[in-house]
Amino acid sequence: MTALTLSTAAAPGLRADAIVIGVAKGAKGPIVAPGAEAVDKAYDGRLAGILDTLGASGAEGEVTKLPAPAGFKAPLVLAVGLGQEPEKDAGFDPEALRKAAGAAARTLTGAKKAAFALPVTDAADIGATGEGVVLGAYSFDAYKRGDDAKAKNAKAPLAEAVLLGGKPRDAAHKAALLRAATVGEELNRARDLINMPPNDLDPEAFAALAQTAAKEHGIKVQVLDEKALAKGGYGGILGVGSGSASAPRLVKLSYTSSKAKKNLAFVGKGITYDSGGISLKPAGHNETMKCDMSGAAAVFAAVVAAARLGLEVNVTGWLALAENMPSGSATRPGDVLRMYSGKTVEVLNTDAEGRLVLADALWAASAEKPDAIVDVATLTGAMMLALGSRTFGIMANDDAFRSALHEAAEEVGEPAWPMPLPEHLRKGMDSSVADIANMGERMGGGLVAGLFLREFVGEGITWAHLDIAGPAFNEGGPFGYTPKGGTGTAVRTLVRLAELTASGDLG
Ligand code: BES
Ligand code: MN
Ligand code: ZN
Repeated sequence: MTALTLSTAAAPGLRADAIVIGVAKGAKGPIVAPGAEAVDKAYDGRLAGILDTLGASGAEGEVTKLPAPAGFKAPLVLAVGLGQEPEKDAGFDPEALRKAAGAAARTLTGAKKAAFALPVTDAADIGATGEGVVLGAYSFDAYKRGDDAKAKNAKAPLAEAVLLGGKPRDAAHKAALLRAATVGEELNRARDLINMPPNDLDPEAFAALAQTAAKEHGIKVQVLDEKALAKGGYGGILGVGSGSASAPRLVKLSYTSSKAKKNLAFVGKGITYDSGGISLKPAGHNETMKCDMSGAAAVFAAVVAAARLGLEVNVTGWLALAENMPSGSATRPGDVLRMYSGKTVEVLNTDAEGRLVLADALWAASAEKPDAIVDVATLTGAMMLALGSRTFGIMANDDAFRSALHEAAEEVGEPAWPMPLPEHLRKGMDSSVADIANMGERMGGGLVAGLFLREFVGEGITWAHLDIAGPAFNEGGPFGYTPKGGTGTAVRTLVRLAELTASGDLG
């Protein structure tokens, strides 16, 4: 991971591979952002003009390289776009800094050290910049042959980032940087899990990785294997996993703080590969389905981050792990499953498997009567149709809680939007043989799935559901601090929720 430090050093004397500066979009062309005064001065105050000549506009995501001015120890100046110049007296949005730092860090792949002279004014800006660096520097090349000199497609991420403009001795600044490094590292761990190919990451392997990492950070782990699941009556998780040669698991991670006043439960969908099962997905729809455990990866990362940050709240993570495959032992459309809650479910489509594993995990989480449950799942293609590939949907049985989560998501830079749970859609899941069917109306499929999950939340428990099917996996090119592939979406929202719950600041 990229090491983060704060420094008061002046840009000219810094030994680094590059000095990163910000450029914003002004009314009459590019504007050099605050923080780069020394750099601009070394170009005799002509930096904005030089950038304009080079075609830079200050647009978000734009990266312009120029040779450093004479006398600089670093050879390169990297000007990164911050987007529109803020209104008078307003500072740059932390998310603009996060994105710019991310784009710069990505461009600097292979470099050893870079100094970031971005317009930071407070601890929040430092945290955002640090997060952007760690997240933008991420790359996944564990499966690329590093020994092939000709391939050269596996360069190391930026090793060290020095953040200028902050105060190295200020407790709030130091804490923000440490938080950024911790959250960034755990979020990158979630990305690694998502990107891992499904032949290497089956439910058992995921459970083993969770076990090792959790123990390192003083988190209690319990793993229910297929025998324990059968004994306990977890018909949903078993039913989904029954077609696979790799047996399912339910992992419970418990982080407890001696100062906690509240208990949170996070539940993650962990389908290590979703072929659709007997209701097999057609070619073209299954190439990225290793990402169907992104919810479980986010929950896992968030629990570890909460532990490492020592948050004063108890957080329990539930990872519902199974592989959805067709075979002679697979669940058939028409089968009825007896769920952990005792309810029966007629499986009409084996590709609607996420709600089945989540139902058991939600019921297990409910038994402990937490103050709130949040589940995270790549649940429906319908949510992608509704919100696109960068925004997740938030549904809840409590309006205030849904709004609080939406606010937390906005604050950390994760685009999200509230979605309703219209009561009239429930009757579409009426079954003639069981208590409920796992499918309903096609229209509003994301909301139907949410209504299904609601049936498995214990009476009186505050619950929210994040459908991250859109933003979990980036099939396009990288942007800002978001790489191609697994994104780690929802990790930062969950961590923020835990922080707000710990401090008693949750609405
Ligand atoms: N894992 C998929 C949803 C998904 C689709 C996630 C695309 C990410 C990208 C889920 O298990 C699924 O197959 N859902 C079905 C439900 C339907 C059969 C009711 C869907 O959305 O088509
Ligand atoms: Mn599916
Ligand atoms: Zn799925």
